[in-house]
Amino acid sequence: MNEAFPPVTEKFPVLVTGGAGYIGSHAVLALLDQGWPVAVLDNLVTGFDWAVPEAATLVVGDIADADLVARTLAEHKIGAIMHFAGSVVVPESVENPLKYYDNNTVRSRALIAAAVAAGVPHFIFSSTAATYGIPEVVPVAEDMPKRPINPYGWSKLMTEQMLADATAAHPFNACILRYFNVAGADPQGRAGQSTAGATHLIKVAAEAATGKRGHVAIFGSDFDTPDGTGVRDYIHVSDLAAAHVAALEKLIAEPERNHVMNCGYGRGFSVLEVLDAVDRITNVTIERRLEPRRAGDPPSLVADNSRILATLPWRPQRAELDTIVADALAWERRLADR
Ligand code: UFG
Repeated sequence: MNEAFPPVTEKFPVLVTGGAGYIGSHAVLALLDQGWPVAVLDNLVTGFDWAVPEAATLVVGDIADADLVARTLAEHKIGAIMHFAGSVVVPESVENPLKYYDNNTVRSRALIAAAVAAGVPHFIFSSTAATYGIPEVVPVAEDMPKRPINPYGWSKLMTEQMLADATAAHPFNACILRYFNVAGADPQGRAGQSTAGATHLIKVAAEAATGKRGHVAIFGSDFDTPDGTGVRDYIHVSDLAAAHVAALEKLIAEPERNHVMNCGYGRGFSVLEVLDAVDRITNVTIERRLEPRRAGDPPSLVADNSRILATLPWRPQRAELDTIVADALAWERRLADR
């Protein structure tokens, strides 16, 4: 997949913060699959130790624990950091904004400072489409206005700014990846979304399809979209994980740069299209209940992904909606069997 860059001959250890969580655990697998040694730093507040493969070293602790991070970077000879640790629930960020500014901004600052102090040259950051707020133009491109409409989006945008400034001031390279709607699970069944109390549509629908909940609410059917329900750019978590590995190799090939890239497929599906896919795959009809719109939901959020396609040799492998849904369902059944 890496024909655009010279092959990375020396694969140094990568620190994955939040590597026991949903997206982080898939990045750990993608790194290990490509031969990168991995250390995971996770406080296990929302992650699970069983989600970390044996081939990776798990360090339990906080990204803001400067001594622990310095020791971990030195002991494991870390050459790059992928930073996933943080809080991710948008409505919670509205109720408890200072938790989000602490977990996603203040603690990220501590981690970035530790990386700069230790001379770790490469940093890949989990950012979000929530930095765009309600975009005026869809598909939304990286240079369009960033006007977050919740503290979650702001907490990530502030960290983006710190990274941009740190890369300008220090021998430090960053790649900021703005995720659209991440869904699905490892096709080999090694990882998936396991956190209880999920709110994301495909996870909720998979729980309903496997009997863990009675129905799925449709939040709004009067949007200005083809069928009136919200449209999102769902990206398979394994494709997203692969984008991280490609971004790392890009940073190594072309250092001294601060890259920002949307991670999405550039196409959207409505809530009804997602639920139809789940019904089609399971041959069962999930009960749907029409409910009012959620506060702050944009009608449509789709990535302009031309930059990532032009910058990285990354190409989507599991972009079909049915593939994303089938992988999410397979993981939900595994969780039910645990
Ligand atoms: N939806 C439902 N019923 C549900 C859950 C969701 O109808 O039970 C709808 C939402 O209204 C929306 C779509 O399905 O139209 C997707 O909603 P999600 O909750 O799955 O995801 P969001 O688009 O709200 O959130 C995603 C990311 C966030 C990020 C945000 C940016 O998960 O991290 O995009 O807008 F901040």
